[in-house]
Amino acid sequence: MPAPKPLSFPPGKTLPEELSNVMKQIETYGVVYPEGYYQMLLKKYSKEGVLYPHILMILGKPRISNHFYYSHVPKETGRLLDYGCGTGDNVRQLIRDGFPREKITAFDINWASINLGFDMYRDRQEIHDLFTVSDTFPFGPEEFDLVYSASVLQVITEDEELRNYLANAWTALTPGGILFGSTFGLVEGAISSPNEWGPPRVMLREQLTSSLTGAGFTCLDIVQRYRVPHYIPNSNNKCVFQFCAKKPA
Ligand SMILES: C[S@@+](CC[C@H](N)C(=O)[O-])C[C@H]1O[C@@H](n2cnc3c(N)ncnc32)[C@H](O)[C@@H]1O
Repeated sequence: MPAPKPLSFPPGKTLPEELSNVMKQIETYGVVYPEGYYQMLLKKYSKEGVLYPHILMILGKPRISNHFYYSHVPKETGRLLDYGCGTGDNVRQLIRDGFPREKITAFDINWASINLGFDMYRDRQEIHDLFTVSDTFPFGPEEFDLVYSASVLQVITEDEELRNYLANAWTALTPGGILFGSTFGLVEGAISSPNEWGPPRVMLREQLTSSLTGAGFTCLDIVQRYRVPHYIPNSNNKCVFQFCAKKPA
């Protein structure tokens, strides 16, 4: 499957500035950049584009850390799939927090954001083996105890693809396994049309609920965590929903 066209940076945000901010953020994790590295990356991504500019803008601040379910994630047991892993920010946080690396699998449908993560963290050699990329979902039934899905549902435009995505998560989980993650949502009101900076899919709480239950999940917990950045049009009506759902045992 060809990678989708890179989205634009929102008004007031530019690649040079965001790249510089992210590098400063990632230096706080002890990453050291050689002389000329910023210029090299700026040239590369000016040419290639950044597939999801918002993901670059929040790189180095992994969303998994503030998910309400994260403190319940068992570190001793359970295999975890980061489904739609993007840059791998959340995978690195899991490792920093002591989750066994051999129990982590990160999957995406293209390499674009994964490679951006490797460029920013300069750790391709160390963690490349955790990442799998394929057009089709490559895992069998009941391979994982946990599936994490951060900011993925919101980029899936087609309803059928959304159903497939959730069906894959359900099948890949062991009975009693947990799907948890986050997606952009609407606090109330009508669905606004997609725009070039915001995510293509913003769901009402009821729509998220029916998507998850329609896929067979139970014991849903959906928490509205925060409003979204001002540069997303009509942002005062938008929020982030964190969710957690169980595959029946
Ligand atoms: C906005 S990014 C979020 C990345 C990461 N989860 C994070 O929180 O930083 C969305 C990611 O979902 C991936 N994606 C979109 N549709 C997908 C699908 N059907 N299966 C797996 N990954 C998908 C995209 O390639 C992209 O890397």
